[in-house]
Amino acid sequence: MNNNQFDMNDTVQIDQWIQNTINNAQSSDLIVPASVAVSRIYDKTKQLMETIVDYKELMMMYACAMKEINTKFDVLNTEFKARYQRNPINSVSTRLKKTASIAEKLAKKNAPFSLEGIRQHIHDVAGIRVVCSYIDDIYTLADALIGQDDITLIEKKDYILSPKPNGYRSLHLIVSVPVFFSDQKRNMEVEVQIRTIAMDFWASLDHQLKYKQNVPNQQEITDKLKHCADVIHQTDITMQNLRHQIEDMADVPTEDDILVEKLSRLDIAIG
Ligand code: GTP
Ligand code: MG
Repeated sequence: MNNNQFDMNDTVQIDQWIQNTINNAQSSDLIVPASVAVSRIYDKTKQLMETIVDYKELMMMYACAMKEINTKFDVLNTEFKARYQRNPINSVSTRLKKTASIAEKLAKKNAPFSLEGIRQHIHDVAGIRVVCSYIDDIYTLADALIGQDDITLIEKKDYILSPKPNGYRSLHLIVSVPVFFSDQKRNMEVEVQIRTIAMDFWASLDHQLKYKQNVPNQQEITDKLKHCADVIHQTDITMQNLRHQIEDMADVPTEDDILVEKLSRLDIAIG
């Protein structure tokens, strides 16, 4: 793979770049014959295209890693449905970081915009967000994922145990997963965010606020959001406790009941 560095303008303004190169070649016609200039333009364009291909290939690998993790959550959800007749996962969404965001993050870290720079410094190129109903589902799913022997936990940030000052709550994991391609195996990093529906509801509004400029009553809104985050967290805890109470209330089933129940759950889970 080509590890050449390149800068953003080259990737997005190829036409402009080719035009400039042609202009330069024309002004130095006396020194460089036209055929040589054309050949240089061709070489540079080819080099640039190769770099773009390498970049896109890396993105394809991250996209595949995301698919692997997505499948793992899908499997866990199916299994839970069969065992407990309850889907712990409400929704899963994936996103590949945009080139502009990658460039911005690398610049902030004073790292080069190169394939190596991306692999070393950006740990959330592939992102997957899992939204659950209850807080305990978050930890059950995280432990089930981390416990798999092909998964390596790189980093864990528990913003539920230690919320951010603004009230943000979520469990963040950076994991590495092997992805098998036709000719090689690559360990790829994926950022996993696991949160409850309520935490997700809060985070989406907070996210909207982040993109607003010159908010007149910023402090008041921030305070109210923080208050909402705390109320939402209390509701999450109460809902979880209520669920446990309701589950404990269930009549003690006979062995036959359990067998029939298991069969019907498996039928539902398999679909
Ligand atoms: P990044 O440079 O964003 O990766 O910072 P970091 O490495 O400190 O990561 P962190 O785990 O704190 O956050 C990563 C991601 O979590 C962000 O890109 C958001 O998707 C989400 N996130 C973190 N903090 C907040 C927050 O305060 N509000 C919202 N809405 N999302 C957040
Ligand atoms: Mg991060």
